[in-house]
Amino acid sequence: MSEPVFPGEAPDGLAIRVRGLRKSFGAKTVLDGVDLDIRRGEFFALLGPSGTGKTTLLRILAGLELPDAGTVLAARRRTTVYQEPRLIPARRVLANVTLGLPSSVREAGRRALAEVGLEGYGRAWPATLSGGEAQRVALARALVRDPEVLLLDEPFAALDALTRLQMQELVAELCARHRPAVVLVTHDVDEAVRLADRVVVLREGALAVDQAIDLPHPRDRDTPGFTAHRRLFLTHLGVTAAAH
Ligand SMILES: Nc1ncnc2c1ncn2[C@@H]1O[C@H](COP(=O)(O)OP(=O)(O)O)[C@@H](O)[C@H]1O
Ligand SMILES: [Mg+2]
Repeated sequence: MSEPVFPGEAPDGLAIRVRGLRKSFGAKTVLDGVDLDIRRGEFFALLGPSGTGKTTLLRILAGLELPDAGTVLAARRRTTVYQEPRLIPARRVLANVTLGLPSSVREAGRRALAEVGLEGYGRAWPATLSGGEAQRVALARALVRDPEVLLLDEPFAALDALTRLQMQELVAELCARHRPAVVLVTHDVDEAVRLADRVVVLREGALAVDQAIDLPHPRDRDTPGFTAHRRLFLTHLGVTAAAH
């Protein structure tokens, strides 16, 4: 049987420490000995094709799922943003942002809305928002909780290309300002190289590459060094050179 999960905070300077993590669903082993340290304030990206266990790992880090074996130590204030905004339709935007928090945080909720570019949207209903706006509300809801660890599960995947770029920029900006440790789960190599300080590929249940991305921000495909990183990750994802 495993050691306890979340027996305490990660050691000094770390937001997350994972050792020997295993997780199976029935006969299928999804995570098979994952070891991972993430520093406080680090922007970390976890790359992997669909079905490799990225969401499972994130859910374990969030405390929503129990591993079969291994230890997870993590900073206490963790919050997740999903692919869908998951807003409550019957609550106005500000109430969604501050959901479950005391009324004293309403002002902080308004500030968080302003930070994501939605000043004055507090009384709007979720149904009146575009997909991008709804996802900004989800970001504000995370921000107002002042997370030490921000868990992002493909938060841009459902957005159109232009909105995705704008959201990536916004997340980069917010994270540079508030400095949570970030775990960004994505299958998009460009997104990972654009945003992260460090990228790891999840493959066959274990972490395959672990690469620091030491390029200046803002980054795009023309940033020197970008393409070299991109190629490396594509290769590790099993994409052949011809398709690069
Ligand atoms: N609750 C569950 N019960 C059974 N199988 C699951 C469950 N959650 C995930 N899986 C399986 O585990 C594998 C990894 O899933 P997931 O972590 O969602 O992958 P990813 O996020 O990388 O696409 C998939 O084969 C998925 O079907
Ligand atoms: Mg997933």
